[in-house]
Amino acid sequence: MRRPLIMGNWKMNGSSMANESLLTGLISQVSSLQGVDIAVCPPAVYLGQVLELVSGTSIDVGAQNLSEQKSGAFTGEISGDMLRDLGVTYTLVGHSERRSLYGETNELVAAKTLKALEVGLVPVLCVGETLEERKSSQMDAVLAGQINAVIELCGADTFGQIIVAYEPVWAIGTGETATPQQAQDAHAFIRGLIAAQSPAIAERVTILYGGSMNEKNAAELLAMADVDGGLVGGASLKADSFATICKAAAE
Ligand code: PGA
Repeated sequence: MRRPLIMGNWKMNGSSMANESLLTGLISQVSSLQGVDIAVCPPAVYLGQVLELVSGTSIDVGAQNLSEQKSGAFTGEISGDMLRDLGVTYTLVGHSERRSLYGETNELVAAKTLKALEVGLVPVLCVGETLEERKSSQMDAVLAGQINAVIELCGADTFGQIIVAYEPVWAIGTGETATPQQAQDAHAFIRGLIAAQSPAIAERVTILYGGSMNEKNAAELLAMADVDGGLVGGASLKADSFATICKAAAE
């Protein structure tokens, strides 16, 4: 069985004070939960603070991005080795905001995924279609392009170490969530893409849903067979909301 993972993506939000109060509230509510993995992805400048605040708890920490380069003259970038050095476990790669606002292509996202794997970070590969792509029946081709670029560069077997997050772009930060059936269909399609190369690995890969998941809709999304957890933006900034989602995924 795949173990559920609930991951908070704080995006460019937070402050030293806000992070501390958010995590204090969260830790008190989730520390006794069983059967669920929990992680938060703060802005890079707060990774050290957050790692300290969650140390000794069951909460893991992820980065929101990493460089595809190893080290050197890449001003403003952060390497996978640095993230590992700090004690970070996961890193998002190819979040739709990185793809749409910062020009990250499927090839660059694949290169970042490979770099994360090389340094021992767990990449959380974000994929998803825009509303136009869904309406014009391009959704399958878009998802296939995003997943297959990683299969081509890294090999299908690496999906044994990769987590996938299906995040329909039209559902991110909009309050409009995919229906449980829409999420299930997309997740099953993604699992099928991996199964076409490596059926055993496909059964094991954790596929998160992201896009306006909140304390009200989490349970019905998480009940779907191929939805193995959530990547939560807005609702992860409130301890009570995020804790309720974690509880919905727990045993
Ligand atoms: P949202 O963001 O939950 O605020 O829609 C999800 C994400 O972008 O990861």
